[in-house]
Amino acid sequence: MNSTNPYSSDFMPHIWPIGGGKGGTGKSFLTSNMGILLARQGFKTLLIDADLGAPNLHTIVGLPNPAISLSDFLNKRVPTLQETVLEMPIHNLFLISGAKNKLDIANLAHEQKMKVLRAVSRLDYDYILLDLGTGTSFNTIDFFTIWDSGIFVCNPEPTSIENIYRLIRSVYARKIRQVLKIDRFRSLAEKAEAQNPDATIHHPEYLLDMLKTIDPEQGAKIERILKSFQFKLVLNQVRRQDNPKIGALVCKIVEKHLGMRIQFIGNVSFDERVHEAVCRKESFVDQYSYSQATLDLKVIIKAITGVTEEQAVAS
Ligand SMILES: Nc1ncnc2c1ncn2[C@@H]1O[C@H](COP(=O)(O)OP(=O)(O)O)[C@@H](O)[C@H]1O
Ligand SMILES: [Mg+2]
Repeated sequence: MNSTNPYSSDFMPHIWPIGGGKGGTGKSFLTSNMGILLARQGFKTLLIDADLGAPNLHTIVGLPNPAISLSDFLNKRVPTLQETVLEMPIHNLFLISGAKNKLDIANLAHEQKMKVLRAVSRLDYDYILLDLGTGTSFNTIDFFTIWDSGIFVCNPEPTSIENIYRLIRSVYARKIRQVLKIDRFRSLAEKAEAQNPDATIHHPEYLLDMLKTIDPEQGAKIERILKSFQFKLVLNQVRRQDNPKIGALVCKIVEKHLGMRIQFIGNVSFDERVHEAVCRKESFVDQYSYSQATLDLKVIIKAITGVTEEQAVAS
């Protein structure tokens, strides 16, 4: 685990898993373009394609045939994760590709997963952005709970919001389970279910309230942990006709039901030219540096780094 101390108020994590409820939300677009912006601001930035089922970050950043990838570390062809790092044509930007990952490693064994997570924690970069797989898969949730930081991405559509809520709820339940250890979690879930048939593992919203009455000390501990999370929400592909307040509303609902604080850090506008940039394997933020979507991405970068572009470049 990295040196993160989520209890400190000025703590700024440097490892950011980026995940969303379903494919096509824009995780890879955000990961690659945020990475380019961070690198251009002088931060040594590593992108990791952790979408083990459908890796494609290498294509988006214009490296169609990477020589080495994450699976070479998993399969012990190279001894360290650092050796799988590829230099990008952009100064300060690096990539660990998922290109040669086979489908069979989409469901990593626990030990392998821990090996990757530990190795990522030891890498020395200003920022590490992990492009995660889709949905509530075991791997995705692990990446979110290990560092207690991450960016949830969704689109302003009811289906996408439903999916992201489900993912956030799974992260929440996993965290409670981690803190309580599995046996206590099970007995709590059973007690909760006996008192309220809705309070099953599938409806973990009730678990914390239940725990606070059964074991106030543990309840307070978990409440503190949930409040210290550094999770962010980004709404991508926002069109002019969409309500710009949806993101903040989703965060309010999450806090109300789960007691988990998620910070809404911005809308990223829908832009037809993203498609063109991806097809031409060009960087969107470089090609369309004055577009609204690029300006939106810069607002998001500021929420991650805590400094403006001017401050970052000047330092
Ligand atoms: N802000 C945006 N405006 C327009 N198109 C976008 C935007 N973000 C992503 N896209 C498009 O949406 C599709 C899915 O994006 P991608 O990043 O591959 O999603 P994911 O990695 O979540 O599956 C791609 O065709 C991409 O070009
Ligand atoms: Mg993707």
